[in-house]
Amino acid sequence: MITKTTYGYSIYNKNIFLNIVFYDDYIVRFVYTKDDKLPESTPAIIAKQQKIPAELDGNAIKTDLFKILINEEDLKISIYDINNNLINKDKGINIDEIEIEKELLWEKGFYGLGEKYGWINKKGTDTVNWCSDVLGHSPVHSAVVKEYHTAIPFYIGLDSDKTYGIYYDNSFKTYFDFGKYKENVVRVKADGGILDYYFIYGEKVSDIVKNYSLLTGTMPLPRKDFLGYQQCRWSYENRKELMEVATRMRDENIPCDILYLDIDYMKDYKVFTVDSEKFDEFKEMNMKLKEMGFKLVVIIDPGVKQEGGYTVYDEGTKNDYFVKDALGKVYVGEVWPGDSVFPDFLRSEIREWWGNLHKGLIDDGVDGIWNDMNEPANFTTDTKTLPEDCIHLNDKGEKKTHDEIHNLYAMLEAQATYDGLRKLQKTRPFVLTRSAFSGTQRYAALWTGDNTSIWEHLESSMPMFMNLGLSGYSFIGGDVGGFLGDSNGELLARWTQLGVFTPLFRNHSVKDSIDQEPWCFGEEVLYNTRKYINLRYKLITYLYNLMRESSLTGQPVMRPLFYHYQNDEKTYDINNQFLFGENIMVCPITRPGYNNRLIYLPEGLWYDYWTQERIDGGRYIIREADINTLPIYIKAGTILPMDEAMDYIGQKEGKLEINIYTGNDGQYKLYLDDGISFNYENGIYSEVEIKVEESDEDIKIQTTVLKNEYQIPSFDINIIGLEDGKKVLLDRKEISKYDDSEFKIRF
Ligand code: NOJ
Repeated sequence: MITKTTYGYSIYNKNIFLNIVFYDDYIVRFVYTKDDKLPESTPAIIAKQQKIPAELDGNAIKTDLFKILINEEDLKISIYDINNNLINKDKGINIDEIEIEKELLWEKGFYGLGEKYGWINKKGTDTVNWCSDVLGHSPVHSAVVKEYHTAIPFYIGLDSDKTYGIYYDNSFKTYFDFGKYKENVVRVKADGGILDYYFIYGEKVSDIVKNYSLLTGTMPLPRKDFLGYQQCRWSYENRKELMEVATRMRDENIPCDILYLDIDYMKDYKVFTVDSEKFDEFKEMNMKLKEMGFKLVVIIDPGVKQEGGYTVYDEGTKNDYFVKDALGKVYVGEVWPGDSVFPDFLRSEIREWWGNLHKGLIDDGVDGIWNDMNEPANFTTDTKTLPEDCIHLNDKGEKKTHDEIHNLYAMLEAQATYDGLRKLQKTRPFVLTRSAFSGTQRYAALWTGDNTSIWEHLESSMPMFMNLGLSGYSFIGGDVGGFLGDSNGELLARWTQLGVFTPLFRNHSVKDSIDQEPWCFGEEVLYNTRKYINLRYKLITYLYNLMRESSLTGQPVMRPLFYHYQNDEKTYDINNQFLFGENIMVCPITRPGYNNRLIYLPEGLWYDYWTQERIDGGRYIIREADINTLPIYIKAGTILPMDEAMDYIGQKEGKLEINIYTGNDGQYKLYLDDGISFNYENGIYSEVEIKVEESDEDIKIQTTVLKNEYQIPSFDINIIGLEDGKKVLLDRKEISKYDDSEFKIRF
């Protein structure tokens, strides 16, 4: 019998309830339970249940978008779109094993699952979600290690005319198999918890990502200056070394905004301390850095040194804030400080305490926090983490074992840090995390951990970034130049070229490796990295606009080609090219000694960014690309804002150049705000809409100020690829204060 409930329907058979709950017209949850109570979701979920957008018709639940057919005998479901195409079909359900098998029907590709090794398309592969401190990535062609830093139990099935997403809301270790173990079967399984998943419907892959973002949240709009170039090192050991790097950046004219301190700035690796011998006058140092246009990020690991007399340890012990072992004693593991204990971030009181502990650092002028080793890493066990039977306590005082909380640990720490900084700073917080669960995008940017300075890891970072983007994560990047081992000039140059197009653009390397700052490999590499870091700064407003869009809708910044060319199956397995927003195609060189590469240009008219040559798409081309050239293509119809050169963001008032790539109509909404405060939440921002319409005789450019609460810079409009004989007509929609801005046209 199918019965109606407040937010959906319930079917009972053979002691099992199947609950079907609507969260949105596009999102429906399926939960299999032994009683008729809906279980609590993981903290990934922020969407609320919604009035049912569906009607019951026999054994079918029909919405305006799709139909769910229920087999009341075995509780299996099939989902059809309104044209009666079969979208998704259960093959087997095993409630005790927390396992569901789906038929692999028409899907040509499977994507998502956060940060994983291997090619972008996961069809024919399997993987495991268990946050792990992996050292060194696999190369893209041999994805031997499955457990990585993030656990994002979400995937997308794709074809040209159909798509869907499945988010499996389970924080235990989960297993995904896309037709590897059994042909034509997709299998999802967990080590604990219950069978609880969300089916996300959409016509296009972008709809799926947006709807997944409704379910699990989007990133908050970041500070604009944190989109600048970031320089890190394990470790800048003392004040002198750090200031030398800062000074050299300015002397060499390398634009740079962010510097980092890795673990050696602390006293004996005790979190929330600063070694005052190595970093004397820490606050003055930070003031000096700020005068030079730098912001400082420091590392904070979750492991707290077990040492009586150390305030963080003493306070946490007194208040019973640390994770316990199975026998109820505080669990002691080992991380950098030696014997260490781990805050139980599951409780809100402990998260609040942790957040407040940042006060000293913030008062001393620290701008952002880097959360590392938060899987959490532990040196004393074979599993390199806490034993699975360790005990956490939730806000209701219920005991939860570590196997359930493990994958959430980093997210809860990031939440504690973000919320703490939000109270302590007037500016938008910056938190960087290594480990994550679905939803962590709401609190922290993410870097992909310890890669190696080898070409394979430059190559394998691209599919990783694209799948992270499809998993709701936009503010991402990898260690530019490679972390483990020694980098070299050519590798650094090529890696920097890719880094320009990753929202988090950070060069970082391991202790005892050779230095890899831009000036470390001679004049040519210095020239090359400077050129590309400058390009990043020219693209800051464009990138900031993409981040704004992502903060509203979850749309990724780095997109696989099929994101916009879903009907072109040739794009489904492209691993080494990506779109930066909708219209910029980036094609990095990822092999040593290569001076050219094969590029696939989807349908339409494209411009070579460097030569402005017009090229028809829908074909493969070969592009020469010496060490100073990263092939970039811009789609006709693009309206691309470009910034003036600068040493750091906010240095100058700045003038924009708006490049209009002719050959197609275009539309762009330029978003502007102060880039640092929360004033935009109160409507203090501006938006200018630019529209381009082409006819045989002319190009009409219309600029309309939609909102004008923040200053609009003057801009030059630069027309690219204008055909002979065409007129340019500029039309401005005036509103108050708008005349303060100048708009000029150049050819
Ligand atoms: C591991 C991190 O992944 C790496 O980036 C960092 O430098 C070291 N821990 C030391 O803190």
